[in-house]
Amino acid sequence: MEQDLELLQFPDERLRKVSKPVERFDAGLTALAESMLRVMYESKGIGLAAPQINHPTRMIVIDISEDRNSPLVFVNPKLTSFKGNVESNEGCLSVPEIRTIVKRHKTISLLAQNLDGSKINIEAGDLLSICIQHEIDHLDGKLFIDYIPSIKLQRLRKQIAKQKKLSNNQAPQGTTVSIV
Ligand code: NI
Repeated sequence: MEQDLELLQFPDERLRKVSKPVERFDAGLTALAESMLRVMYESKGIGLAAPQINHPTRMIVIDISEDRNSPLVFVNPKLTSFKGNVESNEGCLSVPEIRTIVKRHKTISLLAQNLDGSKINIEAGDLLSICIQHEIDHLDGKLFIDYIPSIKLQRLRKQIAKQKKLSNNQAPQGTTVSIV
């Protein structure tokens, strides 16, 4: 499975596929979740969706804990309701150079399954809510930069190109960005 662990990067068209629902809750699914967690931790992200490592399967992993020891796995995740709005400052492991503000639902209700197929029903707010929404978008072939008007996206890409040349490619102080 090691050779499958390529982290796909924008504009790779495979990131645009709609992933398929999981029907078999077997050892292969658990192994895929473990691989996803490994890639997520190694890349220092707080979330990862299976299609990002070229598995068009509806499964996401998340760890928003400070100590990086509270992995969450959601199979076939689906929002059943949402409330309010929030602006989140996001980045994505598959779009490494861009950080920007995206509008998300503030709180959500999530229906999903565990690796054994049992049902999960949770309410989430704050960072967990944002992270879940970002990862579910990946399952639908959607990236966070799709929310940015194209003119602004062009400007962002130019800025990033300039920043790279300046070698001082750091986020401004005092900003917290979620890389998901
Ligand atoms: Ni992402």
